[in-house]
Amino acid sequence: MCGIVAYVGPKDAAPILLEGLARLEYRGYDSAGIAIVSKTLKMRKVKGRVADLAAAVPARFKGGLGIGHTRWATHGVPSDVNAHPHLDGAERIAVVHNGIIENADELRAKLTVDGVTFASETDSEVLAHLIARTVKDTDSLEEAVRTALKRVVGTYGVAVVDAERPGEVVVARNGSPIVLGIGEKEMFAASDVAALVRYTRQVVHLEDGELATIKADGFHTFTMDARETAKEPLTVDWDAGHYDTGGYEHYLLKEISEQPETVARTLRGRLDDRFHIAHLGGLNLTPHETRAFRRVKIIGCGSAYYSGQIGAQLVEELARIPADAEPASEFRYRNPVVEHDTLYVAISQSGETYDTLAAVQELKRKGGRVLGIVNTVGSAIARECDGGMYLHAGPEVSVASTKAFTSTAVAFALLALHFGRVHDLSPADGRRISEGLRRLPGQIEEILAKDAEIAALARKYADHTGMMFVGRVRGYPVAREGAQKLKEISYVHAEAYPASELKHGPLALIGPDMPTVAIVPDDELLDKNLTTLGEIRARGGRVLMIGHRAADPKLADDCVVVPKNETELDPILLTIPLQLLAYHAAVALERDVDKPRNLAKSVTVE
Ligand code: F6R
Repeated sequence: MCGIVAYVGPKDAAPILLEGLARLEYRGYDSAGIAIVSKTLKMRKVKGRVADLAAAVPARFKGGLGIGHTRWATHGVPSDVNAHPHLDGAERIAVVHNGIIENADELRAKLTVDGVTFASETDSEVLAHLIARTVKDTDSLEEAVRTALKRVVGTYGVAVVDAERPGEVVVARNGSPIVLGIGEKEMFAASDVAALVRYTRQVVHLEDGELATIKADGFHTFTMDARETAKEPLTVDWDAGHYDTGGYEHYLLKEISEQPETVARTLRGRLDDRFHIAHLGGLNLTPHETRAFRRVKIIGCGSAYYSGQIGAQLVEELARIPADAEPASEFRYRNPVVEHDTLYVAISQSGETYDTLAAVQELKRKGGRVLGIVNTVGSAIARECDGGMYLHAGPEVSVASTKAFTSTAVAFALLALHFGRVHDLSPADGRRISEGLRRLPGQIEEILAKDAEIAALARKYADHTGMMFVGRVRGYPVAREGAQKLKEISYVHAEAYPASELKHGPLALIGPDMPTVAIVPDDELLDKNLTTLGEIRARGGRVLMIGHRAADPKLADDCVVVPKNETELDPILLTIPLQLLAYHAAVALERDVDKPRNLAKSVTVE
């Protein structure tokens, strides 16, 4: 998704902007550009990679103020002209914009009648013209930006420079993130802290409806009606090293391999050995409130939603509270009944997914109590929720989610333990789950050690045009996540079904050309799962079984054996081989593993 970087200070802005844009590449984009202000406004933008832009930027692009952008096309094809920044006709104002201006056609028509000529097909260009019209009549870029934004319907994160004010950048946020970075006599702004951490870890997040002016010696923030706001800087604990591949061929493999450590970080300081409970101070719930909830409703998108399905299972099993998960993208549109004795839990790695944020806002409007399970500290969803847990998994750079998925499932195990121990869960079961959680990092190491074995299986299965993933009850969200990983990074068609549903339709697909990945944990449903494998084999289907014991060759062609944990926690471990399977399939098929086609890391638009 689009990225924004801005700089003002004593150094040359261009290299800083290019470096910042390179840090945002992971979000997905098709073109990039920068504008620098010194005596005049200079701009370069290209369709292609940040490296292409860097090659196109001349050495004479000097000046300590600038804005940069990576674009992910929405209005108009990827092209040099449609890339940002966008300028007004007099080339005085330059704008970079993330989000969507819904009334762009109407604004464009009005501006055209007034004699404005548009250079691009984008919705964003209207902003440059609107701002340019006001800036002539006022002495304030801030006021010109506010006035222009009042005419806009839609979402935006914007950064604006004026050739006649070479000391300031004005930024604004409404539904698309903007974070300020505070340096030594220099200031930064970006849509993602990834672009800032090389220079500063002191940041300030803007709220929706907030604007800021950054100058070399500081910043101030204000609302659309020009009221000053007070902001407390936050220190981010992610550094530039988190955004390197660390010697791995891809970020995805690095992030899969980090899971022993990331799971340990999610658990750190949260397990109590005396009472076998979880310490989750950030929930902001009194014991009385915790006991009063009659239902848990979990929302998230994509893989976050699937981890929520694992979470719902854990809450029901350990706390015996009815729980279910639903895609936030659906939930927000169906006018949900919001109950006061339901605890709502929103999940997001980025903390910026627009659908999830909008669902949280809808819940809050209707009086719902919402907790967030979020990876990115200070992100919009974390700020919007009443309390919650951070994952502490470190930044996830590869588009496909892996370590955030497992850490979210672990966070839910902690939440379920917390709720369970104030309801019916015995100290013995509390201890059993705590000990199981502590075993996870070591067991993940054991699975990672099977990398070569799983890579060989991935090569064997990767050339099929489609694959079926099946699992029962606890295994079903695992199957869904396995199918999701495979399809998004290898582009192999993958379907996930509850194993119990196979004979109600999808069995028709099974045959030699449609292998099945079957999640077969050693639990009370083992026999039922083995019967399903028999049914698949009877139709000539090939089976790759992921389970706890070696497969009977009559029932499975191949098998990956993972270490057994407590039954409730097994889904977390069963997910890991599926991540490696998808990764190696994508590598075998020579896909762009970290930046799969058509996808963006954080979906900050509807
Ligand atoms: C899949 C994937 C996506 C995200 C989804 C939610 O690998 O990464 O499905 O899980 O877009 O993103 P967050 O967790 O940032 O809200």
